[in-house]
Amino acid sequence: MAHFTIPSHVFEGSNALEEASSYIKGYGNKAFIVTGPHVSKSPMVQGLKKKLEEMEVAYFVFDEITGEPTDEMIIKGVEAYKKSHSGFIIGIGGGSPLDSAKAIAVMSVQEAGSRISDFMGKEISDAIPKIVAIPTTSGTGSEATKFTVITDTKTDVKMLLKGDCLVPDLAILNYKYTMDMPKSVTAATGLDALTHAIEAYTSKKATALTDVYGLSAVKRIMKYLPKAYENGNDSEARKQMAIAAFEAGVCINNSSVTIVHGMSRPIGALFHVPHGKSNAMLLGECLNFAADGAYERFADLGRVCGCGDMEEEDEVVAREFIEEVKKVVAICEIPTLREYGIEKKEFIDKIPKMAEDAMASGSPGNTRKEITKEDCERLYEILISK
Ligand SMILES: [Fe+2]
Repeated sequence: MAHFTIPSHVFEGSNALEEASSYIKGYGNKAFIVTGPHVSKSPMVQGLKKKLEEMEVAYFVFDEITGEPTDEMIIKGVEAYKKSHSGFIIGIGGGSPLDSAKAIAVMSVQEAGSRISDFMGKEISDAIPKIVAIPTTSGTGSEATKFTVITDTKTDVKMLLKGDCLVPDLAILNYKYTMDMPKSVTAATGLDALTHAIEAYTSKKATALTDVYGLSAVKRIMKYLPKAYENGNDSEARKQMAIAAFEAGVCINNSSVTIVHGMSRPIGALFHVPHGKSNAMLLGECLNFAADGAYERFADLGRVCGCGDMEEEDEVVAREFIEEVKKVVAICEIPTLREYGIEKKEFIDKIPKMAEDAMASGSPGNTRKEITKEDCERLYEILISK
């Protein structure tokens, strides 16, 4: 099946919010703004409020998203949403406020007593409030996806909610909102987006349409992430990264992630390494391992980035591409697991569980090369030896 979903409206560029005004106004008389306490005080949210006032759209700001979203934050958000009598939801910030906006939208229409965990693993298809997504980082792709991840505070389980109704109705891609991202966030989110695009393109679930977005995203990120990392004021680099993160989000929304995300999540859960950073730590080694199952696909990615040419064999171009990816990871100063402070013995003890969890997530199974639990264990061993 090659069903393809994407936000109904996407506005890109420094005037995106202004240009989207008539659509936003059409979503209701009152907006419920979901954000974090820091972004809440930023010129971005001040500008959004001013713009809503000009549109004669009232608003309520819920700024209690203080990190990766939890069930408790969402319950509070739903209560505030209902009390505010808002008609639609605007998520503004990094991936967490955007994911929270989706979860609040879903839970706001459920019967009293419903729990977020009731929806885990199910396809949600409710009529929910319209969602506007305004990312201020370039990486998670939440502005383009039908997914949201909410942590169950009682069990520490990361609950994945999904459904086409969760794809934002409108995405605002204004690179100016990303200019203040610190270097470490630029690196982690940008490499997350690169991982999304590479994994989606080399996944078994890739489609003709996701290929278009995947090739484009990889080409932009390989060229512009080093520039955005080295000079955060490079507006062209920031602009290209905002577009690329969206493209990569479209990719994961419609195909899938593979071995890197599969193996990265357990490291995040057990050693609290931020998502983009743990992906980046794994990227080179995992791609090296997976390459011989899909030389042709990796070579396609290499050729759009200027590695090799049509004369050279796919295997050679694929390997060259992976070396280039490693260079970008190095430019972004991503530490190894041990440089990050993870104890070798503690990590080795957890390898069997991490490999099991990685396989259970289903993501490694999307890799074109057949991956076993033992392969994951070996890769974890290599990674902690560096
Ligand atoms: Fe990711």
